[in-house]
Amino acid sequence: MSVTNLGQYPDVRLRRLRRTPALRKLIRQTLLTPNDLVSPLFIKEGRNIKTPISSMPSHFQLSIDQLKDEIKTLTSLNILGVILFGIPEKKDSVASGSYAPNSVICDAIKTIKDIAPDLLVITDLCCCEYTDHGHCGVIHQKGNVWEVDNDPTLEILARQAVAHAEVGADLVAPSGMMDGQIQAIRKGLDQSNFSDIPILSYAVKYCSTFYGPFREAAEGAPKFGDRKTYQIDPANADEALREAALDLKEGADLLMVKPAQTYLDIIYRIKQAFPGVPLGAYHVSGEFSAIMAAGEKGWLDPIATGLEVLTSIKRSGADFIINYFNKLIVPKLI
Ligand code: PBG
Repeated sequence: MSVTNLGQYPDVRLRRLRRTPALRKLIRQTLLTPNDLVSPLFIKEGRNIKTPISSMPSHFQLSIDQLKDEIKTLTSLNILGVILFGIPEKKDSVASGSYAPNSVICDAIKTIKDIAPDLLVITDLCCCEYTDHGHCGVIHQKGNVWEVDNDPTLEILARQAVAHAEVGADLVAPSGMMDGQIQAIRKGLDQSNFSDIPILSYAVKYCSTFYGPFREAAEGAPKFGDRKTYQIDPANADEALREAALDLKEGADLLMVKPAQTYLDIIYRIKQAFPGVPLGAYHVSGEFSAIMAAGEKGWLDPIATGLEVLTSIKRSGADFIINYFNKLIVPKLI
């Protein structure tokens, strides 16, 4: 588009098209709808639990018997889907609770499918909520340092995927940033006759401070060290493209960038590089909490800010957005 061919002031006045709400709607390019939105849920093993997450207003740790109201609220808002995070009663060093057929997540999938068969159920595949050390894989000691052991973790992730598919998950989303995890999960699913279950890869997951509130909510903070040896350095952009390309080669059906608000350039680049691949973005806990906290102080309007941020994420190239604003903002979309 050549700027010189588009005329100039005073013949051209862009404010003419901003004068009324209808004119602004007529030319609006990015529309956020409930069909773009997925809500995270934190499911805690036990009964009668509905514990507010202090840093994430409107979110709770819920036991399965408390899920019904939450699911009804989400479906009444036409929100497309949920992504589930489990908080088990018992953890061990090898995350064995993560793939048990009666795990809190498997029971939650069954319950949600009973309540709302059409709600898309995505499960997060990772070990950090199930390991007593809080890392995203099994660990071993090398000299005096403990390291996350890539290859033995792959089998655990594949077993999680199969366990979730067996009870009705629609989509599995590995978030642990282990090399080769998509290939291992695809193979595991295919061998168990689940070749029709798609994989949403958190291919581009940065090592972000914005996950802080989530780790409180999901009780999955690492007990020592950090996640720098597996999640991407926030300073790197080209590496994100390489991660995405590798995951596509391994069989990822959809890609995701996480966090979102601080990584719009990455969302844009991934969409440009792989235009045919559906792309999700995860507006993460800390991004949400920061806006809500500023709202509590009266420094900004959290709902209007949430709408602006989610619209920007979509505008930059995301096809769908996992985020914590849904219950607050969807009533404003209609
Ligand atoms: C599990 C996982 C995390 C998030 C999603 N899946 C935490 C982490 O990597 O430490 C973060 C989501 C959020 O902050 O909202 N690996």
